[in-house]
Amino acid sequence: MNVDTLSRRWFLCAISYFVVGISLGVYMGASENHTLFPVHAHINLLGWVSMGLTGMLYRAFPAAAQSALAVWHFRLFQAGVPVLLAAVAAIYLGHREAGPVAGISSIVVLVSVLLFWWAIYSARNSKMS
Ligand code: HEM
Ligand code: HEM
Repeated sequence: MNVDTLSRRWFLCAISYFVVGISLGVYMGASENHTLFPVHAHINLLGWVSMGLTGMLYRAFPAAAQSALAVWHFRLFQAGVPVLLAAVAAIYLGHREAGPVAGISSIVVLVSVLLFWWAIYSARNSKMS
């Protein structure tokens, strides 16, 4: 995929997670109900921070964006993260049966990050896409 298209997709996702993460933070502060603080933390850290950094890394390694690895990295990360966050929210709201969903989705996220690592390392010596 074209690096501009790919990195903008990551940035659009990142900024959307930022809105949701900050909103949950403001709600927690206002309500003094911090039950979902790990969900807030990971919306901001997996969403805003990691997705924003990912968009920047693809700009630094534009050849990486061209590979199928980059497409599967995006798909798996974007599929895994919301499921993981929902499952972690369910667990902290008392639904411990969501544990396996959190486990499987976190492995999906891990696999996507391994694809990211592979895409970046494969492209590390390429000057341009
Ligand atoms: C308006 C913005 C924000 C508000 C009002 C807010 C509010 C909060 C609140 C109320 C907590 C719970 C604290 C506790 O119970 O110990 C918290 C925890 C946390 N927040 Fe935010 N937050 C904001 C933005 C962010 C951002 C942008 C990030 C990351 C980039 C972030 C990362 C975290 C983390 C990692 C924790 C867990 C800290 C710990 O382990 O105790 N927050 N936040
Ligand atoms: C698949 C991805 C991830 C998984 C499965 C995961 C899992 C966890 C777990 C199990 C905890 C302990 C929660 C608790 O004690 O209640 C935790 C805490 C934490 N993680 Fe992650 N994490 C992931 C990604 C990340 C990333 C990418 C960052 C930072 C960029 C991060 C930053 C933190 C921080 C700051 C804490 C302490 C605050 C909290 O308890 O929420 N995590 N994570």
